[in-house]
Amino acid sequence: MILLVNGPNLNLLGEREPAVYGRTTLREIEEMVRQACSGWSVQVTAFQSNHEGQLIDFIHEHRKTARGIIINPGALTHTSVALHDCLKAVELPAIEVHLSNVHAREEFRRTSVVAPACRGQIAGLGPRGYLLAAEWLCAETARRVALVGEGAVRPARARRAARRGR
Ligand code: DQA
Repeated sequence: MILLVNGPNLNLLGEREPAVYGRTTLREIEEMVRQACSGWSVQVTAFQSNHEGQLIDFIHEHRKTARGIIINPGALTHTSVALHDCLKAVELPAIEVHLSNVHAREEFRRTSVVAPACRGQIAGLGPRGYLLAAEWLCAETARRVALVGEGAVRPARARRAARRGR
């Protein structure tokens, strides 16, 4: 199972600044990601909140059963040390996704405090960015899950085992 986490204001996708974020709704994005992951027999647990603490609680709650995280933290990207620390703490591979190209917008969007806690970042590719993240996460974690089963072994231990080629 992978977590699909969306932060503040992303519940308004479809109507929110469509010139920047497009017309696709969050429900549609979640469905697209579910479809993409079903090809890998991977379930998706989706969550959106406008509250930093709720996002953190959700990730904590699922830390033992998820194989990875796709996260668009919205504006918290640029401010939330707490979300950064949360991603570090749970030791799950995470990918940061942004619909818009944050590097080509206002200066304050160019800094992500969450990025150092993520394996990578996809920005500016619209909803398809989530699909690319899902594809990477499913492929990247498939071997580990085949080795140890979903949630059966702590990720750090499993990662060490995978590195040793077991
Ligand atoms: C966003 C970019 C952020 O800067 C902004 O605050 C958002 C959406 C994106 O998906 O492009 O809420 O994360």
